[in-house]
Amino acid sequence: MTDLPDDPVQRQYEAYPYPERDAAEEATRLISGSPSHPFEIDHFLFDGVRDWSQPFRVLVAGGGTGDALIMLAQILADNGVQAEIVYLDMSQASRRIAEARAKVRGLTNIRFETGNLLDAASYGSFDYIDCCGVLHHLPDPDAGFAALRGALAEGGGIGAMVYAPYGRAGVYEMQDALKALVLDDSPQEQVRMARMLLQGLPPTNGLARNPFLNDHAHGGDAGLYDLLLHSRDRPYTVPQLFDTLERAGLTFVSFAAPGRYDPRMMIGDPELRARAEVLPYRERAALAERLVGNIKVHAFYATADNTPKQVAQITEDTVPCLIGASGAALAESIYKTGMIRGEFDGVAFQRKLPNDAAGMLAAIDGRRNLEEVRRIMGWEKPRFNELFTTLYQPLNNFGLMRFSHLKRFASQR
Ligand SMILES: C[S@@+](CC[C@H](N)C(=O)[O-])C[C@H]1O[C@@H](n2cnc3c(N)ncnc32)[C@H](O)[C@@H]1O
Repeated sequence: MTDLPDDPVQRQYEAYPYPERDAAEEATRLISGSPSHPFEIDHFLFDGVRDWSQPFRVLVAGGGTGDALIMLAQILADNGVQAEIVYLDMSQASRRIAEARAKVRGLTNIRFETGNLLDAASYGSFDYIDCCGVLHHLPDPDAGFAALRGALAEGGGIGAMVYAPYGRAGVYEMQDALKALVLDDSPQEQVRMARMLLQGLPPTNGLARNPFLNDHAHGGDAGLYDLLLHSRDRPYTVPQLFDTLERAGLTFVSFAAPGRYDPRMMIGDPELRARAEVLPYRERAALAERLVGNIKVHAFYATADNTPKQVAQITEDTVPCLIGASGAALAESIYKTGMIRGEFDGVAFQRKLPNDAAGMLAAIDGRRNLEEVRRIMGWEKPRFNELFTTLYQPLNNFGLMRFSHLKRFASQR
C-alpha cells in the first residue's frame, strides 16, 4: 500500500469519520445522492441502455462512512444485478461504520479494503468508480485522478465530486483563521474552540454571510471538522476541473445537474444571453459558475475514452426514470400551477409545462420505454416526441430524470 506516513488527513478521518452515520438508521431510510445513483450511472456513462444482466464491477474510492456504497449496493441488490462493489478507504474508523451499515442491510455484494486510492488499479479494473469528496484532500490530486483512470475497465467511467470555490465563500478564510489559533491542539479541542469562535463572529464574516453552508451547523463535530478544520482541502473552478481531467486523460461527460451550469439561467438581457449561448461549453459553464456564485461542489461524470461522449439520446427504447421526485408530486404541480418548480441553494427555477405533461408523467414508471408510454397515451409520434422533450429537458437539467433500463431489467427477470 502507498503509505501516507503521519498524514494529518488520515488522522482526521480516524478521529472524525465523515459524514457521521449511525448504522441503526439503515432500518429507517436509504440515503440517495449524486453522483452514483445507478440510473445516473447508466444515463451518463452507458447511454441509458446498459445491459444489467451483465456483471458490474464498482470501486468506491475513499468510501468513507458508506453513503454511495450503501446506495449502490442496495439498489443493485434489489434489482438483481450481479455486482461486486469494492469499498476502499484509508480510514479504519470509517470502514467500521460502513461495514456496520452493510451488515444491518444484509448486503453481500461488497468487498471491504483498507488502503490508498493511489493503488486503485491493484484491486482490479472497474466498470464504474465513485469518488466523492476525496480527490481535493489528496497531497497530489492529479495523481489521484490518474490512479482512478488507470483502474477503469474499457468503456467504464467515473462519477466524482470535488469542491468548488465560490459557493464555499467564507470557508477558506475560516480554515486559515483557525490554523492560526488552534493548529497544535487535539482534534477534540480544535472542535471545541472552533465552536467558541463561531459564536462571536461579526455579521460581516464571510462564513456568517454564506447561508448555504450549513455542515458546521448540522453535521455534528465531524461536519464542523470537515468544513473548517480540514488540513488539506482545495476547491476547483470549472476551468481548473477541466484542465485537471485533461491532464489525467479523462474526458468530461456531464455535470450531474447540467442546468446549474447554464448561464442563460442567470442572464436576463437577450443580447447578453445570445453572447453566452455561442461560447464553447467549458466557458459557458465557467461563466455560469461565476455568475451564480452558489456552486459548492462539482458532481460530474467522466470516461477514459478520448472521444467526447454523447449523453443518452432519446429513442423509442429509452426508459425514463425519476430520481428524488415522485411523478405524482410533479404531475400535481403541473396541474395546479402549470409549472414545475425547484430551488438550488437560494436560486429558484421554474418551467412552464402543459397539462399533458402531467398525464405523461403518470405513465412513466421507470419500466416502460417511450414507445410503451406513447401507446398508453395514444398519441402520434411527432406530437409525443415534442412533449417528451419539453418535459425531459428541465427534469434532466436539475437531476430529476435519467434514462436507465435497470428497473425494466429487474421486472423482466
Ligand atoms: C469527506 S470523506 C468522503 C467519504 C465518502 N466518499 C462520502 O462522500 O460520503 C473523505 C474520505 O476519503 C478518504 N481518503 C482520503 N484520502 C484517501 C486516499 N488517498 N485513499 C483512500 N481514501 C482516502 C478519507 O479517509 C475519508 O473517509
